[in-house]
Amino acid sequence: MRVLGLETSCDETAAAIVDDGHAVRSNIIASQVDLHDRFGGVVPELASRKHLERILPVIDEALDAATTSLGAVDAVAVTYGPGLVGALAVGVATAKAIALSTGRPLVGVNHLEGHIYANFLEHADIVLPAIVLIVSGAHTDLVLMRAHGVYEILGRTRDDAAGEAFDKIARAMGLGYPGGPAIDRLAQAGDPQAIELPLPFANGGLDFSFSGFKTAVLRILARTDLRPQAQADLAASVQRAIVQVLVSKTLRAVKRFQPKSLLVAGGVAANSHLRTELAHGADQLGVPLFVPSPVLCTDNAAMIAGAGFFRISRGQRDSLELTVSSDAPLGAEL
Ligand code: KG4
Ligand code: ZN
Repeated sequence: MRVLGLETSCDETAAAIVDDGHAVRSNIIASQVDLHDRFGGVVPELASRKHLERILPVIDEALDAATTSLGAVDAVAVTYGPGLVGALAVGVATAKAIALSTGRPLVGVNHLEGHIYANFLEHADIVLPAIVLIVSGAHTDLVLMRAHGVYEILGRTRDDAAGEAFDKIARAMGLGYPGGPAIDRLAQAGDPQAIELPLPFANGGLDFSFSGFKTAVLRILARTDLRPQAQADLAASVQRAIVQVLVSKTLRAVKRFQPKSLLVAGGVAANSHLRTELAHGADQLGVPLFVPSPVLCTDNAAMIAGAGFFRISRGQRDSLELTVSSDAPLGAEL
């Protein structure tokens, strides 16, 4: 089954062609990073307008790159939430128009479920149940995935998301937007033990909190003029603290629920230190770890097509009444 996926929930206009939930025939991502960089974060109104301008050329490019045409597409999958409503509306309206004109089924995909299914694009051997750590710019969730489409939230952030903490600290350090990749790069040259930082919410069960930690780092920044080496040391120390808490809570969930697999999803899953530390921890516990390739960790439409394939295969589809939702919870479609 050939699925066209569309993703416009935030600041990437993306379209992809994926066959049978696995074979990525094309994956086109038009990033708006340059547009939002000077504002230090995503400006919703500008994002919607840019999506509108780019969505059709991006779809054409995805079809061309996959050497296919709309007529050969079997279904259309689109992110309907969570995300910025104006941005989501562009993708959903476009998907509906394509479904209506081609007579193909339409399926709305939860953005977080899309991130999870980035893992299934590259691995056919994932056995469920799985513990999933979702770490993005807006979410930090620990999830027990019992079966396809069946999720139980074990813990989540009580305030800022992990990616948001990276972004806000990076902005205060003058590293631009998005901050996660910049901190990841700078940290390579830094000493992670050089600056002592509090651990972000090391207790608190499987919930997370990054706001107090962020404030503590911003205070350090406000009273010190960092030289280049100290900048790198701070980046490494911030990254170490955030990763340590993400990893220790994830491994705690693995020990408690004894899943068959451990999955990581979302933009922060591209973080090199997080990948190394989780690989080490998973190895010690003897649980198979799956992390998407970096390009599939951050927002893309291949993951939406992949998740859509699994939904459609289970006989699910949406009508042309599909609406956008800024805070759609994971698994609400069932
Ligand atoms: O999943 P995503 O592309 O968009 C959302 O759904 O939010 O995640 C974006 C987030 C941003 O906060 C970005 O700073 C972070 O992922 N990120 C990283 C890295 N690459 C992206 N954070 C840490 N290290 C990275 N290498
Ligand atoms: Zn995302």
